[in-house]
Amino acid sequence: MTTRVADKHNETRNLAHQMEFELALEFARVVEDAAIASAHTMGTGDRERADHVATEAMRTTMDTVPMRGTIVIGEGERDQAPMLYIGEHVGAGWHDGENLPEVDIAVDPLEGTNLCATGAPGAITVLAASEKGGLLNAPDCYMEKIVVGPSCKDAVDLDAPVKENLKAIARRLSRDISDLVVVVLDRPRHEKLIDDIRRAGARIRLITDGDLSAGIAAAVIGTGVHVVMGSGGAPEGVITAAAMRCLNGEILARLVINTPELEARIEKMGIKDKKKIYTAKDLAPGKNLVFAATGVTDGALMKGVRFFGEGTRTSSIVMTRHSGKVRFVESIHLAKRADVKVRFM
Ligand code: FBP
Repeated sequence: MTTRVADKHNETRNLAHQMEFELALEFARVVEDAAIASAHTMGTGDRERADHVATEAMRTTMDTVPMRGTIVIGEGERDQAPMLYIGEHVGAGWHDGENLPEVDIAVDPLEGTNLCATGAPGAITVLAASEKGGLLNAPDCYMEKIVVGPSCKDAVDLDAPVKENLKAIARRLSRDISDLVVVVLDRPRHEKLIDDIRRAGARIRLITDGDLSAGIAAAVIGTGVHVVMGSGGAPEGVITAAAMRCLNGEILARLVINTPELEARIEKMGIKDKKKIYTAKDLAPGKNLVFAATGVTDGALMKGVRFFGEGTRTSSIVMTRHSGKVRFVESIHLAKRADVKVRFM
């Protein structure tokens, strides 16, 4: 290896090491703190407050992480969002941390604000991070999506009839269509999709919110979710893509550009092919990716936050792509008292 090639190689390895090894558990802290903050508001019916406290907690903890982070997907443009706005610098490294990694971050401080506000299952706090340029700066619009796990990743086509996709998934999973569970957001726009799935004979789980966590469940065996179909938020799609790249799953997605304002915005962003079907790799092309989420209310993969007097218990999932780790993290955050006891499970 020439010196320059070797230097480049080492630089890449160092970045991978810093991003995935050193920052993964730091990001776990970030989503844990946001989950604890929003869980205090569970069931209050106040979705704005639930989202606000999650965002505030995420922002505060993020600033203690040794990195030079930039929000690429966040709470909106600077003028709509006081914090975690797109382009905002986060992390402890911006002042004197020249050697700290530069990281792009996509956040959804509280995915499922209604779920938290009503105490329903499936609310999570979530983020994805990558080296610079590793996450698509998707506009805040809808995206048509289909999300499947590793066994089905080359079997689906966003433009194929629903029945064909379900047949292909059933074949790959060695079962009948009638055994499949398809998760769909319960929205009037999905009336035809729901009808097509029913006609094909598959079972449906309608969810009121949270297609991001449903997507992750689709890529993990044993969750009882085989595919997620329908349109949901594009930012959620990018974060799902980061998870799919860590889990070897797939998301196929296309932006829904249905207003002249959106059309103009897409053009300004330099997106030329408006009908492009994106894969997980297109949405989250990063070599080094970290995905971290914590349950706020109970879900398929993570329990919600539990307050037990002597502390707080959180369940999280933390994944890294390059180093191939999927960690299920149970944390106990002890109350600051000398008589606190820790219970196993
Ligand atoms: P919030 O976290 O903003 O409440 O979004 C939840 C969610 O259900 C996402 O999971 C989904 O992608 C999107 O909203 C769907 O949008 P809409 O509610 O407009 O159909």
